[in-house]
Order: sequence, then C-alpha cells, then structure tokens
Amino acid sequence: MTENASLIYKGKTYLLPIVKGSEGEIGIDITKLRGQSGLITLDPGFANTGSCKSAITFMDGEKGILRYRGYPIEQLAEHSSFREVAYLLINGELPTEDQIKQFSILLNDHSLVHEDMRSFFESFPRASHPMGILSSMVNALKSFYPYLEDKEEAIDITVTRLLSKIRTLAAMSYKISRGHKVVYPSSKLSYCENLLNMMFHSPVNPYKIDQDIVQALNVFLILHADHEQNCSTSAVRMVGSGMVNLYASISAGISALWGRLHGGANQAVIEMLEKISKKEFTVSEAVKRAKDKNDPFRLMGFGHRVYKTYDPRTTIIKKKCDELILKLGINDPLLDIAMELENIAINDDYFIEHHLYPNVDFYSGIILRIIGIPTNMFTVMFAIGRLPGWIAQWKESMDDPEWKLNRPRQIYIGRTKRDYVPINKR
Ligand code: CMC
Repeated sequence: MTENASLIYKGKTYLLPIVKGSEGEIGIDITKLRGQSGLITLDPGFANTGSCKSAITFMDGEKGILRYRGYPIEQLAEHSSFREVAYLLINGELPTEDQIKQFSILLNDHSLVHEDMRSFFESFPRASHPMGILSSMVNALKSFYPYLEDKEEAIDITVTRLLSKIRTLAAMSYKISRGHKVVYPSSKLSYCENLLNMMFHSPVNPYKIDQDIVQALNVFLILHADHEQNCSTSAVRMVGSGMVNLYASISAGISALWGRLHGGANQAVIEMLEKISKKEFTVSEAVKRAKDKNDPFRLMGFGHRVYKTYDPRTTIIKKKCDELILKLGINDPLLDIAMELENIAINDDYFIEHHLYPNVDFYSGIILRIIGIPTNMFTVMFAIGRLPGWIAQWKESMDDPEWKLNRPRQIYIGRTKRDYVPINKR
C-alpha cells in the first residue's frame, strides 16, 4: 500500500506519495502538486529537493558514508584502479578480466586527439585558465567527432573516446601553456601512467614513472569519480535534459566545477595555505575571519552541503598524503599549516556547531603537489576524476523514462503589470 504525506492548504488536504530508496531514504513525491493545488515548492539551492532517482552513488552525510554502485569508497580506493572504477560507474558492475582488457584496448585506441585541434590550443592566450580551455575543447570534440552517438554501441565509443581524450586534452593544455612540445599517449602505459607521462615527459628530461605516484593519482581520481547530484553533475543532467549531445553536457559540467565553492576549492585551499605560509595572515586570523559574519572570507576546504561529519574521502586522502610524504621523504610546509588549521578549526565552537569539517579539497591539493601537478591544473585533475560520474549520470538520465526537460518554476517578486512609457516621458 502506498504511504502518503498530507498537505493541508486552505482547508483542503492533498495526499502526496512517499518514495523510498534502497538505503531507507524517504522523499515526498510532489510531481502532481501544482496540477492539483496550484502550489509550487520553493527551495533555493535545492538543499531539500531530490531531482531524480539514481542507482549510481549513495551518500549518507550524517554518517560519512560514500559508495559507488554499492561498493564502499574505502574498498575501491584500497583495491581498485581508476580505470576499473570508471567502468563500474558507467556500466553498473565491476568488469570481468575480458571486459577490462577490451575497455583498455578501446581507451588506447581513442587516446589521440585530432591534429587540427592543436591549432585551437595555440590560439588561447598563454595566461588562460586550463579549466576554460578544457571546457571549450571538450565541447569542440563534437565538431571533430560529429557522428556515432545515437546507437547503443556508438554511445560506448563516444564514452570511451571522451574518457581517453580528456587526459590527452588536459596534458596538451598544460604543455602548450608552458610553451613545451606536446607528448603523445602511448599504448604501453596505463591510464594514469599515460597522463603523468604526457604532462611531465620532455626530450631534455625524460619522465621516470614512479609507481607510488601512479597509485596516489589512481586514489585521487577514484575519490573524485562521482558524488551524486552535486553542482556540476546537476549541470550535466540539466543541460543534457534539453537533449543535447554528451560532449556539450560534459563541457557544462566542467564549467560548473570550476567555481571555488565546488571543484575550484582545491586550488583555493592551496592559495589560502600559501598566504599563511607567506605570513599574509596567521592560522588563528584565518579561523577568526572565517567566523566573522561581516567578512566574506571562508575557510576553503571546510564544510559541505551533504556531509555533516568528516568527509570519508578526506580521511583516505590524508592517509595517502602521510604515506607518500614518509616514503618519498618529502617535506611540505603547507601540510604542516593544513594540519594546524584543521586542529584549531575542528576544536572551535563555531565549526563544531556548524558541523564544518575538512572536505576532500582540503588535502587533495597537498597530494596533487606531491604528484607534481601545478596549482592551476588542480581543478582539471578533479574534472578528469569526475568524468566517469558525469557520464554515468548522463547515461542514466537518458535511459530514465521519468526524466524530463529540466525546467524549474519560480515565485515572481518583480513589478506587477504597468504600461510602457515613451522615452521622452521617463
Ligand atoms: N568557513 C566558514 N563558515 C562556513 C564555511 C566555511 N568554509 N562553510 C559554511 N560556513 C557557515 C556559513 O557561513 C553558514 O553560517 P550561518 O548559518 O551562521 O550563516 C553555515 O556554515 C552554512 O553555510 P552554507 O553556505 O549555507 O552551507 P552550504 O551547504 O550552502 O555550503 C559549501 C556548502 C561547500 C559551499 C560551504 O561549506 C563553503 O563555502 N565551503 C568552502 C568552499 C569549499 O571548500 N568547497 C568545496 C566543497 S567539497 C568539494 C565538492 O564536492 O565540490
């Protein structure tokens, strides 16, 4: 029997069906609300609104749980690879040996980008932010690879092509921004090895692949691979709901991710820690400013819309940072500042009362610095990691019989009707 919630308005009762998820989450289905009552709901920032039913990622923000397709993030970070997690998210199940072999062949086959795309890269001003370049180049893929996206097997090619080429595009944008020779992908290297080699190899200084670094990059990408209906994923779904192609939808997601309240936070965290390191302000001053309602300053890398406890990704990434620093004998003063800041903040009444804990971006910048990634490429690395999630969510929305053109309502608060006044009478 369907369970209902009742809404009473002007003496009339409206029954609204309750929807239950497989992990016990409950929601009120309001799809018929406006038709029956004339009412809409108002929820700026969508903090109380579910936009879809999804079988991809489960999060419990109160308990600090994150699972992809049912598998705990801790197990995937420990035992899996980014390539395997990408397959899992997009196809719903972990691959068999044959399936992963086939997937790797496809990833290698599609890793090159059309040579004509290089002229695009060369036209961007040198100081362009790589996120702007990446978003434009992913959109441009549609012009270079215009066919093949209506049939089932063709979607797989489009998906694999995008997963493979995004690495090449990211590395090319970095090389070109430095005025260096582009390095091509190699079928002898794994997904992460290829990305590192394309970014850091040069004819004068051959890149030596270190498996600890490769493993750290795998973990970083796995932790970022999906996060249910976040800002950029919602952008991908919303743009896609107008029946636009995959490349354009992903390009919108990349743009949404760029912002410093979302994926851009990893760059903003390191910039904040560098300011503390250069003594522009102290750790205590940063905490004091973050608590001051009249100061727009926020502690970057703290707080999350869903997590009201430790972000489980932070625990994994921090552990990985500690391991790497020990193993590689690195001394990063920014890590010491980060730990001091975390200690002060998590014991401060304001942060405790507001449930503000370090999110994944607080330590992801540190791990990217260890890998050797320059600060302005941090959010690009996040985008490469998030791509399988965006693709999985886009595919799910396209296959969902309930999915509709995304078109929210509003409560109009502007002027009521008035007559046009000719310019000489204003
Ligand atoms: N520093 C100081 N105060 C904060 C912070 C912070 N980082 N984050 C939230 N608050 C306070 C905020 O001032 C508000 O206080 P009050 O209720 O007294 O007015 C309260 O906490 C709730 O904040 P909110 O902005 O309404 O909460 P939200 O759910 O809309 O914000 C957030 C989530 C991530 C945008 C926010 O916590 C923030 O701006 N954090 C810093 C940026 C950041 O690290 N972003 C990365 C997010 S994780 C990566 C990803 O998945 O994208």
